Amino acid sequence: MSIFRTKSVEQSLRDTEDPEHQLKKSLSWVELTMFGIGVVIGAGIFTMTGRVAHSMSGPSIIISFIIAAIACGLAAMCYAEFASTVPVAGSAYTFSYASMGEIFAWIIGWDLFLELFLASSVVAQGWSAYLAVFLSQLGIDLPPQIVSGGRFDLLAFGLIMVLGMLLIGGIKESVRVNTVLVAIKLFIVMFVIVAGIGYVKASNFTPFIPDKQPVESSGGLTQPLLQWFTGSQQTAFGVSGIVAGAALVFFAYIGFDVVATTAEEAKNPKRDVPMGILGSLVVCTILYIAISLVLIGMVPYNQLDPSASLAKAFTTVGKPWMAIIISAGAVAGLTTVVLTMMIGATRVIFAMSRDGLLPEGLSHVHPKTRTPYRITLIIMLADGLLAALVPPGILDEMVNIGTLLAFVMVSIGIIVLRRKRPDLPRAFRVPWVPVIPIVSAIICLYLMLNLSIETWMRFLIWMVIGIVVYFTYSKNHSRLAHGSELTADINAEITNVMDHQYDNRRKSRRAAAQTGATASPEAAEPAPTPTESSDPPKES
Ligand code: ALA
Repeated sequence: MSIFRTKSVEQSLRDTEDPEHQLKKSLSWVELTMFGIGVVIGAGIFTMTGRVAHSMSGPSIIISFIIAAIACGLAAMCYAEFASTVPVAGSAYTFSYASMGEIFAWIIGWDLFLELFLASSVVAQGWSAYLAVFLSQLGIDLPPQIVSGGRFDLLAFGLIMVLGMLLIGGIKESVRVNTVLVAIKLFIVMFVIVAGIGYVKASNFTPFIPDKQPVESSGGLTQPLLQWFTGSQQTAFGVSGIVAGAALVFFAYIGFDVVATTAEEAKNPKRDVPMGILGSLVVCTILYIAISLVLIGMVPYNQLDPSASLAKAFTTVGKPWMAIIISAGAVAGLTTVVLTMMIGATRVIFAMSRDGLLPEGLSHVHPKTRTPYRITLIIMLADGLLAALVPPGILDEMVNIGTLLAFVMVSIGIIVLRRKRPDLPRAFRVPWVPVIPIVSAIICLYLMLNLSIETWMRFLIWMVIGIVVYFTYSKNHSRLAHGSELTADINAEITNVMDHQYDNRRKSRRAAAQTGATASPEAAEPAPTPTESSDPPKES
């Protein structure tokens, strides 16, 4: 019962054929790319860009975006190789199970769930804020208690309930809605770039890297862990501001990895999933760099609005009607992010419960819609309440730290699986292994160290809870554990049967020697085979 037992790639693939737990294979590479773009472009570019430029990086946020893109690009290649080798729901969780062993898979699954679950709540809160801004631009003011930052954010709660019901209705249908919303979002993003370019002033790019400034810290816990380690004072801007900015705008790229969680629902996963992962990342990187150039060029960085920067930039240059269009686009855009994050969260729990690490009943799929409706119901309720009750801005960095850890594990997993299973067919291969995966892991670790101490503390608490759950429940209920017990039972039975046959043969020989007659048919009758005398072993 080793915590380092691995689940073979072949076993992972076989599990996807189990009718009880089978998902519908209906997604093409175009849908997967749209799906990726749908989850990547969201609160990060619509709100966080302005905030980070305003208070952390200034115009050099463009370099922050490039650093984050490099980290994501390297990790994306590792994800693409894994997804083309093990096209099974669960993404990094499944990859770690195949390469590094159960305890690592558990840690990653637990961590990925945190990322996806919290991301959907956090983005739903942003959606609610944009909807309120949009409505107020149309002259409709909602009571402050039921919008973002109020006592119960009814808008965010309502959004999650509606999307949850959509997901229970079927993945194909959800992706169709997603495709329409992504098209609207892409239009808005292009609109910002094209409409804004005429307002860009070269003077807004200087100073490109503003001088370092000390920051008032709240008890030191908001300080990046690395600054605390090095004993330096908490600062913003300068070169350290660029790196800390990269650790924050990393949020804007999160989501391409979610494409890998739907690998089992792709028509041709070995080709389509790598294309979906890399394609969505490339498109988003180009758009982000273009948008941040336009945004910084339009408004001096210290005058950017930290909450709805894209829309407000157009109000600043005297185009309020454009701001209305952008707010509407943000509402559509953020919807797809919440939807896709919810799909990812349900698929990770699905994969973990199918493996027995969480109660197996959770991964039951509805006979008609073939969606994991039980998990979806639980997640939508918990997610909705979290979005409605927790004040906005508390949990955003948790999403980043969780994702970065997953990237580190997937990068290392590539090296491990190449060593352990060089024979596996890989439709996509990361070049220069082990250099690229090692560089990827180091960059991601470095970005993690640039997140705040309080984020690290919350993250460690979540991981400790996970370890306790693993050792008290998952380790003993794992299907791999049952697999070993079953194997032991079968071995014991085979031994009994062989002993029994040996006894029978000895008795027959003795009887034949004594009487000179042939052994009685009864004595020579073969013992039952293991499969006849016991329940057939379940697949583990
Ligand atoms: N990348 C996603 C967003 O920016 C999480 O909203």
